[in-house]
Amino acid sequence: MKIAVIGTGYVGLVTGTCLSETGNNVICVDINEAKVQQMQAGVVPIYEPGLDVLFHRNIAQGRLTFTTDLAHAVKDAQIIFMALPTPPGGDGAADLSYILGAAKDISKLVTSYKVIVNKSTVPVGTADKVQAVFAANTDVEIDVVSNPEFLREGVAVEDFMKPDRVVIGTRSDKAQKLMNELYGPYVRQGNPILFMDERSSELTKYAANSFLATKITFMNEVANLCEIVDADVDAVRKGIGSDARIGKRFLFPGIGYGGSCFPKDVQALAKSADEHNYDFQILRSVMQVNEKQKTIIVDKLLKYYKGDLKGKHFALWGLAFKPETDDIREAPALYIIDELIKHGATVTAFDPEGMANVKGLIGDKIKYAQNQYEALIGADALLIATEWSVFRNPDFEKMEESLSNKVIFDGRNLYDLQKMIDLGYYYNSVGRKLINN
Ligand code: UDX
Repeated sequence: MKIAVIGTGYVGLVTGTCLSETGNNVICVDINEAKVQQMQAGVVPIYEPGLDVLFHRNIAQGRLTFTTDLAHAVKDAQIIFMALPTPPGGDGAADLSYILGAAKDISKLVTSYKVIVNKSTVPVGTADKVQAVFAANTDVEIDVVSNPEFLREGVAVEDFMKPDRVVIGTRSDKAQKLMNELYGPYVRQGNPILFMDERSSELTKYAANSFLATKITFMNEVANLCEIVDADVDAVRKGIGSDARIGKRFLFPGIGYGGSCFPKDVQALAKSADEHNYDFQILRSVMQVNEKQKTIIVDKLLKYYKGDLKGKHFALWGLAFKPETDDIREAPALYIIDELIKHGATVTAFDPEGMANVKGLIGDKIKYAQNQYEALIGADALLIATEWSVFRNPDFEKMEESLSNKVIFDGRNLYDLQKMIDLGYYYNSVGRKLINN
């Protein structure tokens, strides 16, 4: 099939590349000329495991191309994906100007039937708005389809190639047939393509992310309570996760969820409910609790150092909002850094992929180490904000040589408690017994 993908951000690029992998001809469009030139020259603009292999293979086969020329891309495409940003506007509602702007541009170019697919996360009713933009500008028949993405950063290629489900919102038989054909190769193992109306599909995306954010937040609160009542959150997690109705996944407590999706989508769904005069109370609590959770490490430090962090120096392992990504959007580490600086402390950080982005954002407000051990030199304590695999089994003897004190505040519960007792560390993790050697 001939596909155009408008927008080569994270979602657009993964979508375009993965769609070319099953033999489709995909042309990706972006207004950013420098970026398009870069991709034409074979450079993948984001870090995403496994993407580069597919990217290079399909470019070499001539199935994946890049352009700034929208008219050229739209001309032959049977299906046009819009993967454009929907940033939160000033009031927290999703800003649809990119989507509606692109819809207007495309509507002036179409000369034959097209399926216009919205991949971006958008409020309920957006498909109707896009349809209205087309109706105002052209008589050519088109169908607007909602097809939300459920890609996790770090495993986005796998998520696209073998999705748990594909959600397609359309009431048009013609569009349904084309979308069924397009996604068939991705669900051969038997996972469903769920067809529904546009509005249900749009809401599905927000509800899925908000539910997961709520699940994590619930566990964060359970963990906070565990610390107070001297219970072990790992035991509680396993105890409840074995119930199939609850499930084992997304029950890991920590220092709050971050990233480009959960914070934005929870806020947007709450706002959307608000606009329809419905007070989605649980989501308001989720947002409040998560804000607080991002800085629990600082609260613990203040307690440990009796309210005075001035002149203290901390090693920080992890900057990205989660492992296997360089994405630092809404990363708890940034909130921790901010608070520490406010309290007069200094920080040396290490992250396998996220350092360049943090440097771009806050520059030399903190120091950056070449590796995880260098970050420890002269530090009063080690703080852990992201559960990268390289932090899971470090050389504790080597760590002792650099750390001024054997003190670890772990926001991701990486280490075994008995091991920390044996090694003689002060070890403060989330929702587990405090090891106070
Ligand atoms: C998420 C959704 O999973 C994906 O379906 C959607 O399309 C985009 O948003 P992503 O933001 O890439 O994906 O990351 P995810 O792996 O879902 O983690 C989100 C946040 O939750 C991270 O900050 C992570 O650290 C946190 N998290 C996750 C926990 O704190 N505990 C858990 O048990 C799981």
